Parts: sequence; structure tokens; C-alpha cells
Amino acid sequence: MGEPFLLKYIHERDQGDLAAYESRGGYAGMRRGLSMAPEAVIDEVDKSGLRGRGGAGFPTGRKWKFIPRDPAVTKYLVVNADEGEPGTYKDRTLMEGDPHRLIEGIIIGSFAIGARQAFIYLRREFADARAALTKAIAQAMAAHYLGRNILRTGYDLEIILATGAGAYMAGEETALLESLEGRRAMPRLKPPFYPAVKGLYLQPTAVNNVETLCHVAWILAKGHEWYKAQGAPILISVSGHVERPGVYEVPLGTTIRTIIDLAGGMRRGRKFKACFPGGSSSAILTDAYLDTPLDYDALPKVDVPGTMLGSAAVIVMDETACMVEIIARTVEFYRDESCGKCTPCREGTVWIGQVFHRILHGQGRSEDLDLLSGIAKGMTGTCFCPLGESVPPSLNASLRFFRHEYEHHIKTGTCDVKGHRARP
Ligand SMILES: Cc1cc2nc3c(=O)[nH]c(=O)nc-3n(C[C@H](O)[C@H](O)[C@H](O)COP(=O)(O)O)c2cc1C
Ligand code: SF4
Repeated sequence: MGEPFLLKYIHERDQGDLAAYESRGGYAGMRRGLSMAPEAVIDEVDKSGLRGRGGAGFPTGRKWKFIPRDPAVTKYLVVNADEGEPGTYKDRTLMEGDPHRLIEGIIIGSFAIGARQAFIYLRREFADARAALTKAIAQAMAAHYLGRNILRTGYDLEIILATGAGAYMAGEETALLESLEGRRAMPRLKPPFYPAVKGLYLQPTAVNNVETLCHVAWILAKGHEWYKAQGAPILISVSGHVERPGVYEVPLGTTIRTIIDLAGGMRRGRKFKACFPGGSSSAILTDAYLDTPLDYDALPKVDVPGTMLGSAAVIVMDETACMVEIIARTVEFYRDESCGKCTPCREGTVWIGQVFHRILHGQGRSEDLDLLSGIAKGMTGTCFCPLGESVPPSLNASLRFFRHEYEHHIKTGTCDVKGHRARP
């Protein structure tokens, strides 16, 4: 692994200014990219092995190859800057601290797929990121890196900054496109609405994550061989019971244990209990899995169904965490964010929430654990989109690893986790 580069300039106060960005090598990737054939840019990204950092880990070069090359067809590039997965805040960090990097990645990506309009779909709550991006877009326009005939190449590009309305669901790419078109953020039926085929305004569209496009800017600036030699870096958002929560840049495949060490270890020297390795949509893991590599391929192979790297957000819990309460909170999040389109998710999250409510209020019943498993089973593989499918993995894992905590709540109406402070 070389020096961290994605976060290298994030703390430089003037990094959001074009002159400072360029003095540190910024826009070299754009200059190189625009001097190449679009297919060669896609090949460069493909050879780098970059996989999308939005959650699914799909290879970026391959995604761009799906976009038809016909110049008569209007295409769009859409940046997913909605970042609503609990525990995830690496995209916000990049947009606030290094906004031109994203603009550079967008120019390269749009040129590669032949898009002349790009949209950034930004989470509305990100006021600082919005200000930083607005300024960066204006500066890039003034420098003729956007607009007509960029760098006299004949290539035109406009970037439109749009904001969401605060729905987690809008991060799912087809729901995002619905929202961008002015409708409620509900997922589209696939097929036929794969964005590469029928995306924004039913035109071929590449939807890419913020971090993904920042990698692209570096890949074009330094070349795919240099990038690969850096060990496929990834940003991990670390939160919860560690000494130094924050965003860490590490090679893909770094273990959970190493990430916790980098974050200063467990808070107040307490014992590790469990973690979400890939945001709240991933199944929780216990200390037996601390040496598991954080990797797109390794995590789904562990014997806890629903474990994945997802948005690469490691949420750490120590011995004072009540797992019944943690999972109840998680379910409440998905219940509140469910768009209501399909029955298993709309009803299942409410039913599970009701069962948790009575368990946590001293009214649990002996049959409740079977009931929870049964509802989770009914939701597995039956939801219309991954939001609903995100509930069963952690619920099932908690019933497997921490059943005794549920049983204690049901039997006594109290929590037996030492040091735990129940939420009001
Ligand atoms: C409920 C839900 C929320 C999502 N939220 C985000 C998000 O906030 N940001 C993001 O980049 N991808 C999110 N995704 C993944 C996107 O659908 C999509 O896969 C991603 O933007 C593709 O970009 P990439 O190829 O660069 O990873 C979400 C998916 C689901 C199912
Ligand atoms: S799974 Fe949930 S969020 Fe997804 S479509 Fe169904 S109701 Fe909507």
C-alpha cells in the first residue's frame, strides 16, 4: 500500500479552491482523459479493477461499457451523493474536503460514456457539501473545464446540482432517478429499467457513487498500474464505541480488527461485542469474525447470511450495548424509510417493530422469538428492493448470537447487559 491519496489533501483549508487544487496536481486526470479516445478511458478504468463504492461493488469500467456508444443517443451520468446508509459518511467527507476531485471524476466519466449532461443528486442535509460543490462547479465553468468546447476538444458538458428530500430510499439508483424526474423516490421494475438501458428520462444512464468518481480522477491522473500498486484503496467510515471514529483509507481486504486498531481501539478499553461491517444493511458479526477481511468477496462468504461490505461503514459496539435495543433501532429506521410499495417490507418492518416494542417494554411473550424469525423469513427474498431485504440479516444474526439477551428481556422485563443505559 502506498501513501493514502483519497484523503491526502482533505484537511488542506484551500483544497476547495481551483488554484490550490491545480497546484497539487488537480485536473491532470481530466486533461489526460480528454486527450484519449472515450473507449480508452473506459479501458483504463476497467484495467484498474475499480469496483463501485456505492454498495454493490460492481466494476465501474464494465458498467460504462454497457452504455451504448451511438452518438445520436442522449446519455446521462448521475452521481449518487445521497449517502443515507446509517454509519456512512465518507462521500460527505470527500465532497466537503476535496470537491474538485468529484467534478474532475464527473468530467472524465461523462466524456467516457458520451454524456453531455451530468447530475449530482445530493442529500439535502449536506449544506456544507452543497456550498463546496456549488463553488467548485462555478470555478470549473469559469476555467472552461465545463460548458462548451472544453479544452478545445469539441466536448461539451453541463453539471446540474440537484438535492433530494431526505429519503434514504432515494439512494437506490432507480428510486433516485424517479426523484430526479420529480416523482416520489420509489424503485423501478428491473427489467426493463436498468439505468444503462433506460435510466434518466428513459435514456441510457450511468449512476456512480461519489467515492467511485474520485477514484476515477486519480486513476486517469496516475494510470491504472500506479493505482493497482496502491492496493485498491477504500474509504471506511468507522463509528460507534471506538476511541477515534472517522473515515480511514485502507487497502481493500484490511481486517475488521485492524480497522478498530486504526480507530484507536475500543472506547475506554472496553471489550468488543459486535459490529455492522458494512453499514446497517449488513448482518452483524461478533468477535469470532474480527479477522475477516473487509472485501466484496470475503464478507459474503462468512457463515452469517447477509454479511457484506456494502457502503463500507463499520459500526462498532462494545460490551455495554444491548443488542435487542440496537436491532430494534435498526428496524425502526427501515420501517420509517420503507417506501411502502411492497407488502413484505411495508408490513414486515411494522410488525417486527411492534414485537420489539413490547419486548423492550416488559411485555414480551415466550413465542415472540419464533414470531420474529417467522416474519424475517417471510421478508427474505420477497421484497421488491434491497431496502426490505436489509432487515432480516441482522435480526437473524442477533437471534443466533445474542438470544440470551432477548430471553432475559422477555422473562424479566429488564436488560442484563452491564453498563447499558436504556434509551428514554
Ligand atoms: C436502499 C438503498 C440505498 C442506497 N443508497 C446509496 C447511496 O446513498 N449512495 C450510493 O452511492 N449508492 C447507494 N445505493 C446503491 C445504488 O443503488 C447504486 O448501486 C450505486 O449508486 C452505484 O454506484 P457505484 O457503481 O459507483 O457503486 C443504495 C442502494 C439501496 C438499495
Ligand atoms: S422493499 Fe421496502 S423500500 Fe423497497 S420497494 Fe418494497 S416497500 Fe419500498
